[in-house]
Amino acid sequence: MGLLKDVTGWRRGTKLQRRLRDLTGTLVVVTGAGSGIGRETALAFAAQGAIVVVSDINLESAQDTAALINTPTQASGAEAVFGGGSHAYQVDVSDEQAVIRFAETVAAHHGVPDIVVNNAGIGFSGTFADTEQRQFERVMDINFWGVVYGCRAFTPMMIDRGTGGHVVNLSSAAAYTPQKALTAYSTSKAAVFMLSDCLRAELLPHGIGVSTICPGLVHTNILKTTEFAGTTAEEQLENQTKADNFYRKRNFTPDRVASAIVKAVRTNKAVVPVTVEAKLGRTISRLSPGSMRVGARFEI
Ligand SMILES: NC(=O)c1ccc[n+]([C@@H]2O[C@H](COP(=O)([O-])OP(=O)(O)OC[C@H]3O[C@@H](n4cnc5c(N)ncnc54)[C@H](O)[C@@H]3O)[C@@H](O)[C@H]2O)c1
Repeated sequence: MGLLKDVTGWRRGTKLQRRLRDLTGTLVVVTGAGSGIGRETALAFAAQGAIVVVSDINLESAQDTAALINTPTQASGAEAVFGGGSHAYQVDVSDEQAVIRFAETVAAHHGVPDIVVNNAGIGFSGTFADTEQRQFERVMDINFWGVVYGCRAFTPMMIDRGTGGHVVNLSSAAAYTPQKALTAYSTSKAAVFMLSDCLRAELLPHGIGVSTICPGLVHTNILKTTEFAGTTAEEQLENQTKADNFYRKRNFTPDRVASAIVKAVRTNKAVVPVTVEAKLGRTISRLSPGSMRVGARFEI
């Protein structure tokens, strides 16, 4: 009896989620939308006719993103007729009360969102020994708890409304490719990965899909702000520049991740490794987890 009820709920939920194949007029919330993947994701949803609420810890950058949407001529390369416009807010996702207030403001002024993209995040490099406790906590506060707060603040109102929706959580290929020099970052992203899989099962009867995005190496501003534990200011700058140059040469742009995010929402995809290396890493981690552990010993 219980199983039958479950299956009926899953079927109803799947049908509800299908309405997001057409994104026109939907309300989309994106955190960390002042730069990189978040900004491009906001533009990509707007190009599909969505109304986009953008937030960032840096208000000015969020306002710049909103301006790109509200003044389409400014949007370089954007060919779309933008839909319902955009609104910018300042939110630090690691501040639970601020995220709750943000969700209440969005509901009061714009309505219950159809799609929430928990994108805000920071890079961090360092072995466990080099990473101070406060640094580890900061990475978890933004990359993991920020996603939890976003899910907790928005999903109850989406469930109450009863018309389904979608949550997108930004994880990373680092979630399944261990590296000794990425302990805190990989841990935060692995936590997001598992959170999203559990939540996907829980939200299915409500017609709310959950997608986990694992971008790979994408050239954004992330390396310019990435902290390298245990280094001097000079070494830090050197490492940031070196890594940023490498990502620039890799030349995978954030708009391509944004396209993958829009597709994941439309098709309700569970896990999306985006670049070739993210896909390859996922395949190897499933076929031969032992070889990933050997790879983790190298400093990359
Ligand atoms: N770029 C990559 O190669 C890559 C790879 C895997 C995963 N990711 C993930 O993708 C997401 C976006 O990264 P990106 O590459 O676009 O980086 P980015 O640095 O270009 O953009 C991140 C944005 O998040 C904002 N932000 C930082 N801390 C915040 C906070 N506490 N509250 C609110 N906003 C905050 C920043 O101001 C910035 O605008 C992150 O979660 C990142 O971990 C990126």
